[in-house]
Amino acid sequence: MTKTYRVGLVGCGGMGRHHLRILKDLPEFEIVALCDISQEVVDQAGDEYAVKTRYTDFDHMYQYSSLDLVTVATQTRGHHAPTVAALEQGISVLCEKPIAIDLTEADQMITAAKKSGAKLAINQQNHVNPGIQQAKTMVAEGAIGNVIMVRGRNKAGRKSGNEFMEMGTHVTDMMLCFGGVPTWCSGTIYNGNQLAGPKDIMQAKEMSPGDRDSGLVMGTKAIAHYGFDTGIIGEIHFIDYQPGMNDNYGIDILGSQGQLAVRTAGSAGQNLWHLPRPMEGTPTQLSDWQPVDLPDNLEKEPVITMYQRMTQAIETNTEPPSSGTEGRWAFEMIMGIYQSHREGRRIELPLTNRHHPLEKWH
Ligand SMILES: NC(=O)c1ccc[n+]([C@@H]2O[C@H](COP(=O)([O-])OP(=O)(O)OC[C@H]3O[C@@H](n4cnc5c(N)ncnc54)[C@H](O)[C@@H]3O)[C@@H](O)[C@H]2O)c1
Repeated sequence: MTKTYRVGLVGCGGMGRHHLRILKDLPEFEIVALCDISQEVVDQAGDEYAVKTRYTDFDHMYQYSSLDLVTVATQTRGHHAPTVAALEQGISVLCEKPIAIDLTEADQMITAAKKSGAKLAINQQNHVNPGIQQAKTMVAEGAIGNVIMVRGRNKAGRKSGNEFMEMGTHVTDMMLCFGGVPTWCSGTIYNGNQLAGPKDIMQAKEMSPGDRDSGLVMGTKAIAHYGFDTGIIGEIHFIDYQPGMNDNYGIDILGSQGQLAVRTAGSAGQNLWHLPRPMEGTPTQLSDWQPVDLPDNLEKEPVITMYQRMTQAIETNTEPPSSGTEGRWAFEMIMGIYQSHREGRRIELPLTNRHHPLEKWH
């Protein structure tokens, strides 16, 4: 008989509700308890999704609800505590992105998972979106020859400082799917048209009051290069495009015989394109890019895939996609940009100092 996974949700705000919408239709999961520090919020979510067991303290939920899996959908400052507490009790966790507010917290989350054997995944769901999955298959089949470079570009509507902590790890995570393990980073950050400096460091909410409270940030635009252990080069652009300008958001995989472009938003939605030659050539040749048909058997909603692959990881004692370790690499690639910019040179990854690079500079 197939096991039913007993799930508890910590954080019933916007993204928490999205998880509930997804989980309610998945027969292998039962939402048994909800937790939010706001009684009003947990009651609203509980009424909407008919979940009777509600808590305002995650420790109580873990103690009394006999859970197999916890979804952590608090804002980034609130990821570490409920994740570590669950993992220490042997409960696996799907935690929202980015993994944590700094690398010290991320390290502790991974250590807690290793110690108990429970699984930790970070919900960077593009890791398993159909375009990325099909691009991996095509790369493995040699459709673009040897991969030389993977290039990521940010989603629109945010200055790079906010974007680093919001959509930034989605982009670095997709780059990791093709690059391998990052070994160095060289980054430059601008405030407007000037190089950013310590006076530009601020809290995320000072930079954008309507955004989430995700710690120290700096700058409006950024560019970085990475080396991966495979010899593949990485490049990432953060340009503060106006809201809605998302046609570049995603990654490009540049090979010796062709290119692939994966997009996750924008006018064409989630999709994959193939250019059967290594260089784009002149702008008049752009029509040579061909849309790739995505196989029907690939689940279109990647958060569903994240849940399904988490159960497989638990059952086979393997690592889930966008595991804690991968989630930390995706975040470390972002922190590396700050560290490199601060030192004015290329820096090695992993970072030696695990505190937020802007903390001391501030
Ligand atoms: N993967 C994605 O595509 C995606 C999309 C959107 C948001 N997110 C992520 O989801 C997370 C949540 O974002 P959001 O916009 O839903 O935030 P939100 O503020 O709407 O919701 C967070 C909820 O957590 C609750 N909370 C805070 N501390 C808590 C605690 N200790 N115990 C229980 N509940 C607590 C708050 O009361 C709030 O209701 C963020 O990390 C964000 O980056 C991910």
